[in-house]
Amino acid sequence: MKKHQVTKDTRLLHGGDYNPDQWLDCPGIIDQDFKLMKQAHTNTFSVGMFSWASLEPEEGVYTFEWLDDIFDRIEAMGGNMILATPSGARPAWMSQKYPEVLRVDALRRKQLHGARHNHCFTSPYYREKAQEMNRKLAERYGKRSSLLMWHISNEYGGECHCDLCQTAFRDWLKVQYDNDLDKVNQSWWGPFWSHTFTNWEQIESPSPIGENAVHGLNLDWRRFVTDQTISFYKDEIVPLRELTPEVPITTNFMSDNPSFTPFRALDYSKFAKEVDVISWDAYPAWHNDYEETYELASKVGFMNDSFKSMKQKPWLLMESTPSHVNWHQFNKAKRPSMHYLSAMQMLAHGSDSNLYFQWRKSRGSSEKFHGAVVDHDGSTENRVFKEVARLGKAMEDLSEKVVGSQRIAEVGLLYDWDSDWALEHTQGFGLQTKLYPETLQKHYQSLWEKDIPVDVITKENTFKDYKLLVVPMLYLMSEETVQRLKVYVANGGTLVSSYITGLVNEHDLTYLGGWKKELQEVFGIEPLETDTYYTSDSNELTFNNKQYAIRDYATIIDVKEAEVLAQYEGDFYADSAAVTLNNYKDGEAYYIGARAEDDFNRDFYSHLIEKLDLSPGLKVEHEIGVSVQGRILDDGTSIIFIMNFTEEEQAIEILEDVRDSFTGETLSGDVSLKPYEVLVVDKNN
Ligand code: GLA
Ligand code: GLA
Ligand code: GLA
Repeated sequence: MKKHQVTKDTRLLHGGDYNPDQWLDCPGIIDQDFKLMKQAHTNTFSVGMFSWASLEPEEGVYTFEWLDDIFDRIEAMGGNMILATPSGARPAWMSQKYPEVLRVDALRRKQLHGARHNHCFTSPYYREKAQEMNRKLAERYGKRSSLLMWHISNEYGGECHCDLCQTAFRDWLKVQYDNDLDKVNQSWWGPFWSHTFTNWEQIESPSPIGENAVHGLNLDWRRFVTDQTISFYKDEIVPLRELTPEVPITTNFMSDNPSFTPFRALDYSKFAKEVDVISWDAYPAWHNDYEETYELASKVGFMNDSFKSMKQKPWLLMESTPSHVNWHQFNKAKRPSMHYLSAMQMLAHGSDSNLYFQWRKSRGSSEKFHGAVVDHDGSTENRVFKEVARLGKAMEDLSEKVVGSQRIAEVGLLYDWDSDWALEHTQGFGLQTKLYPETLQKHYQSLWEKDIPVDVITKENTFKDYKLLVVPMLYLMSEETVQRLKVYVANGGTLVSSYITGLVNEHDLTYLGGWKKELQEVFGIEPLETDTYYTSDSNELTFNNKQYAIRDYATIIDVKEAEVLAQYEGDFYADSAAVTLNNYKDGEAYYIGARAEDDFNRDFYSHLIEKLDLSPGLKVEHEIGVSVQGRILDDGTSIIFIMNFTEEEQAIEILEDVRDSFTGETLSGDVSLKPYEVLVVDKNN
């Protein structure tokens, strides 16, 4: 095994969600599947995520035979099985007999049986029952040679407000606050609107028909939901760890859609610590009518780098569509070559797989028109099947180089779930224009356009190895984070931050006595006021003799030791500082006071790239829309993906000597890329 390989297979994984139990009554279909899998150059299938009713049709009655057969067939073709635990959807008999498994929503309405992803995370019965099922799966399949990984449940998410969860929440609070209700009241600013609690039973989860204005409570509820979900997951994996300690465990993470921002409902920085391999489901709306293709590609890069940075290891693309989904507003087909391009982008950013939802389109129910490798026609001649097969062949050719190779970044961009949650409920600023994750996407994009690899990290990561640390809008900052940022700069780091940073502590209580003294020292300024604009307002800042439009926010800054890099053009603070730079001990700290147009970010980061000598994986001259990203192999060579995310032919210039990874042919100098074309090249370092 290579040092950073995440599964035992040395091949890139190609395949995806396979639901044979939907086809047990349709003779010939499963035989056909296994013929087509070869033709599609696939090797790995995730099975069983929604199979509980097929595995235990009645309480205590088990029907594993169909799954035995699938294992046999997968093994005969030399393939891998990613075996899912079925807790993502329940059989009807269970909801009927044990109604505690059903969720209660924030309005305190008990849900009926139906759909999926909707069990109570606290229910002792469901936890026990899931464990029992998982034990049976591990006993039966734990030693199968094709068992590559465990896939725990499916897309964990959501919350339950039932009585069991209320009790669990109170117990959780007791642990956080040393069993001291006064501490809770102080942290939640209790006397405000008479929200002081005098016994634990008065505390309820937030609700639109109840408590929703206590920000500390809202924040703690979010934290509890993450912890309770992880606690459910940890119960699920007990028998798997016991019986199959050598089989890696994953669960499929998500992004929010269509914004393509980090999944807000769960703090994945906590969840990531509990899984062996990071995997996620990516469904970008390619060819949409509200952004350029390259802007979306940059957002995909952001999410990929966030998942990569969670373990600093390769990760797996667990789900994607070979063509289109069925749940976007408009479910547009990927244009020719987009499938190949988008899959290559995943490999470029550290994926060791390209897996699909779904292998075969189901015949009925809600996903019958969701894209799949095998369509209702069962044909190998349609466009989608051919594109999948073409990609599968290319992945076979690239496996040896790509699997287990690393991505290295000199820049860290900090995303924080706590800040996102706190800003979401904070009343103030512009209610619709806080846009915290979107702001991070924009900062990322300026570096992405210049091909600079970025780690998207969280506040718990180590900062010291980054030449540049970008921390915009870190609204919530504990004393500890403040201290760690200070040490980072003192020891020579370059820090970039912005408006709406460092305003509250971990309970969403504001700091008193002005901006924190440590931050004032590091940045050499004190932000005095945050001016919020209507969307019709306009103003500019001037940076390096160039004017840039600003919108939404402008911070009025009291400059202490810092150097002023940009000034406001208009309003009552015209000519005052808009962007500053401070030397603090061995490092430097930039403060960006206003939300500026993309061109400002571009010029600002270009300046930093030059100053800090940040390097892309490969030097290529190109227009915006071409992306150059890659990975480093154990032997020190790089594999680089040069990707055209535009609808135009692009003339680029490769400034170093490289070889085409497929043909070995030497390349350098002027090259033309067709729309959506990808070049994969090797480079000696
Ligand atoms: C109303 C209420 C006050 C306060 C203000 C805020 O006037 O009476 O308690 O909430 O709104 O603008
Ligand atoms: C998610 C789910 C899959 C499927 C796809 C459809 O990723 O995990 O079961 O519903 O969405 O896009
Ligand atoms: C959510 C998830 C997607 C997919 C859809 C299916 O939006 O983010 O991955 O599962 O639901 O409806």
